[in-house]
Amino acid sequence: MTKTTETSLTPAGEAGTFPLGGLTVRRLGYGAMQLPGPGVIGPPRDHDEAVRVLRRAVELGVDHIDTAQFYGPDVANALIREALHPYADDLALVSKVGARRDASGRWTVAQRPDQLREDVEANLRSLGTDRVAAVNLRRMDTHPDTRPADVVPLEAQLAEMVALRDEGKVGGVGVSTVTLAQVDTAIEQAGIVCVQNAYSLLDQSDTPVLERCAEAGVAYVPYFPLGSAFAHIASVTDHPPVVALAAERGVTPAQVGLAWLLARSPNVLLIPGTSSVAHLEQNVAAADLRLSDDDVARLELPSPDRPD
Ligand SMILES: NC(=O)c1ccc[n+]([C@@H]2O[C@H](COP(=O)([O-])OP(=O)(O)OC[C@H]3O[C@@H](n4cnc5c(N)ncnc54)[C@H](OP(=O)(O)O)[C@@H]3O)[C@@H](O)[C@H]2O)c1
Repeated sequence: MTKTTETSLTPAGEAGTFPLGGLTVRRLGYGAMQLPGPGVIGPPRDHDEAVRVLRRAVELGVDHIDTAQFYGPDVANALIREALHPYADDLALVSKVGARRDASGRWTVAQRPDQLREDVEANLRSLGTDRVAAVNLRRMDTHPDTRPADVVPLEAQLAEMVALRDEGKVGGVGVSTVTLAQVDTAIEQAGIVCVQNAYSLLDQSDTPVLERCAEAGVAYVPYFPLGSAFAHIASVTDHPPVVALAAERGVTPAQVGLAWLLARSPNVLLIPGTSSVAHLEQNVAAADLRLSDDDVARLELPSPDRPD
C-alpha cells in the first residue's frame, strides 16, 4: 500500500471493490443482523426505520448485504425483500446456513448437508429470489449448544454447498467461524469466495486467516467489525485511541475502526451492522476515510489477542 502521511477524506469509491460470487462489490457493505429486535429475535423496534436503513444503504451505493434466515428468524430476510425487491442485478445478497432458531429463540445447530440445502432454499424463498451471490457455511464447532453428534465432517458439507453452486442457487460458497486448516480445506475442495470470521482492531487473533485469504484472492469479511452489539465484547467505538484519533480528525470512532479494517488488506469487505440511518451514513462514508501510516501505528497498541 502507498505510504500516506495525512488522514484525508478521499473521493467516493476510493476504498475500491473486490470480487464476490460472480459480482464485484464495493468494499463497504451492510450487515442486517441488527435489524430484528433485541437478541436478533422478533420484529424490529422500529419497522419503518429498518426499511429506511436498507433503502438508504442501496441509495448510498451499498451493493453487498449480509443476512441469514435465522436473523429474526425470517425477519431480516423479510425486511430486505420488502425494502429492496425486485433486486438490482448488481446487488450481492449473501446469506449463511448452519444454524436455526427454536420456538423460544434459542440458536440450534443445523449442520447436516440435507439441513444446509433446506436452509439455502428457505433463504431463497424468503428473499424472493432464485439465486444469491454467496452463502456462508457457518460452522458451529465452538458453539456451547453443539454436541459431539452435531459436528459434521467439513468435506461432506462442502460437497453439498458445491452442489448448490453447480445448480445455480448460490453464486459462490463461503465459510464462517472456521480455523485456518478449515479455510485451507475449503479453498482446495470448494474454491470458496469468502470467509466470515470475527475480526476487528480489538480482536486480531484471526490475522493468519485474513492473510491466507489475501494470498488466495478470497474475500475476508470480518463480523463484529465494531466489536458487536454484545455487552461482553469490547466496543471499538469506545476504545480510547480510536476516540482520540476520531476527535482529532473530525470523524466518528466507528469511521476510524472501519477505515482501519479497510487499510488492513484489499480483500477485506466490510458489513457493519446497524439499525439506524444515521449510523449507516457514517459507516458508508468510512469508505472515503484514508488513515495515514502514523494513524495506523497509533492505533496498533499491544494486544493480548495479537499473534505477534
Ligand atoms: N457469520 C457469523 O457468524 C456472523 C456473526 C455475527 C454477525 N455477522 C454479520 O456481521 C455483521 C456485523 O456484525 P454485528 O452487526 O454483529 O456487529 P458490529 O457491526 O461490530 O456492531 C454492531 C453494533 O455497532 C453499533 N453501531 C453500528 N454503527 C455504529 C456507528 N456508526 N456508531 C456507533 N455505533 C454503531 C450498532 O448499534 P446501532 O444499531 O444502534 O447502530 C450495534 O450495536 C452482522 O450485521 C451480520 O450480518 C455474522
